[in-house]
Amino acid sequence: MLDFNFYNPTQIVFGQDRLAELNDQIPADAKVMVLYGGGSVKRFGTLDKISESLGSREVIQFGGIEPNPQFETLMKAVELVHSEGVDFLLAVGGGSVMDGTKFVALATQADSEHHTLLFHGFEPVPLSEAMPLGCVVTLPATGSEMNAFGVVTFNDQKYPFMSPLVFPKFSFLDPNLTLTLPDEQVANGVADAFVHVIEQYLTYPVNARVQDRMAEGLLKTLIEVGPVTLADSSDIEARKNFIWSATMALNGVVGSGVPHDWSTHMIGHELTAMFHIAHGRTLAIILPSLLRERKDKKHAKLLQFAERVWDITEGSDDDRIDSAIDKTESFFNSLGIVTHLTHYDIDDAGIDTVVANMEKMGLTALSETGDLTLDIVRKILIAAK
Ligand code: NZQ
Ligand code: ZN
Repeated sequence: MLDFNFYNPTQIVFGQDRLAELNDQIPADAKVMVLYGGGSVKRFGTLDKISESLGSREVIQFGGIEPNPQFETLMKAVELVHSEGVDFLLAVGGGSVMDGTKFVALATQADSEHHTLLFHGFEPVPLSEAMPLGCVVTLPATGSEMNAFGVVTFNDQKYPFMSPLVFPKFSFLDPNLTLTLPDEQVANGVADAFVHVIEQYLTYPVNARVQDRMAEGLLKTLIEVGPVTLADSSDIEARKNFIWSATMALNGVVGSGVPHDWSTHMIGHELTAMFHIAHGRTLAIILPSLLRERKDKKHAKLLQFAERVWDITEGSDDDRIDSAIDKTESFFNSLGIVTHLTHYDIDDAGIDTVVANMEKMGLTALSETGDLTLDIVRKILIAAK
C-alpha cells in the first residue's frame, strides 16, 4: 500500500425527511445564501422546506447555476455575497451546484483575478480561508457532497480545482429529494459513481486489500442497485444504497494509498466542454475503449476485477479480461446509456479537436504512470466511435 494522509471532516445527515435538522447545522446568527440550479428545487418544493428549516435567519437566494457551472455565473454570486454580507453558503442541487458553491466559497476570499483560482489542477488552491458551506444533495453522482473537489467551466474549458477548505461542513442525503430525477440523470449518476471507483481501483496492484475490497463492494452494489433504482423509483432501499455508494465512491476512502488513473475523466471533460454531452455519459463512452487499449498495463487488476466484480472465473486471461470489459459496457447500455461517439455525431474531425484541445490544456501524460500520451488518447477515441 502507498503512503497516504486521510482527512474528511464532512458530517453526513442521511435519511428521509430530515431537512428540519438543517437548523441544527447552521449557526443561528448566520446570513445564509442558498445556491441552486435551473429551478428543479423550486418546482419540487425543496426550497420551501429549506426556508422553513432556516427559520428567522436572513436568507438570500441565488439561482441559475447551470449544469457544468460557468465561471461568470458564479462570479455574480460572489458579488452578491459581498454586497449582502453573507457568511454561510448552502448548495441545494447536484454536482454542478455543489461545485459552483465551493468555487464561490473560495472566490469570496480573493481580491482579483478570480479565474486564476482554477489554474491549480489537483494542487490545493493557494488561499488560507474559504467561506463555510453545506450541501443538500438532489442528485447522487459526483461525490462532491463529501469531497474537496470541484469543476468549473471557464472560456469553454472545464477546470478541476481542489482545496481542503471546501469540504462541506455537512451534507444532507435524503432519498426523497431525488425522486423527481429523470431516468437519464439517475443513469448518469450510477455511471459517474461507477467510474469514480474504477479510476481509483483499476490500475496496478499495491496490496491495498481494504481499498480493493471496498471498491469491489461499491462496484457490485452499483451493479445491483443501479438498474433497480431506475426500474422502480419506489424502491427506497435500493435508492439509499445507490446514494451512499455515490458518496463513498469519491470521498477519499477507496482512493487512499492506491494509484489513480483519471484519464477517463480528463478525456470525458473535453467531450462535455466541446460537445455538451452530460458528464456521466462521456465516461461511459471512454471507459470501455480505454480499458481495451490499456489491457496490458492493467492486466493484473483487470483479472481481479473480472473475478471479484463480475464473477468470471472460466477461460484464458484474455477471455476473462475481454468478458469483464464487455460486461462493463453492457452494464452502461442496460442503464440506457449509449457508449459510442457516432451517436453524438462526433467524427474524425471532432476527435482531432478533442486531441488538440487536450494538448492545449497540457493533458499529455495521463494515467496511473503518466504514460498515456495524446496518440493513445486518439486511439481510444477512434475505438469509441
Ligand atoms: O438545475 P436544475 O434545475 O436543478 O436541474 C438539474 C440539472 O439540469 C437536474 N436535477 C438535479 N437534481 C434534480 C434534478 N432534476 C430533477 N430532480 C432532482 N432532484 O439534473 C441536471 C444535472 O445536474 P448536475 O448538477 O449538472 O449533475 P451532476 O450531479 O451529474 O454534476 C455534474 C457536474 O459535476 C462535476 C462534473 O464535471 C459536472 O460539472 N463533477 C464534480 C466532481 C466532484 N466535485 O468531485 C467529480 C465528478 O467527476 C464531476 O467531474
Ligand atoms: Zn465524475
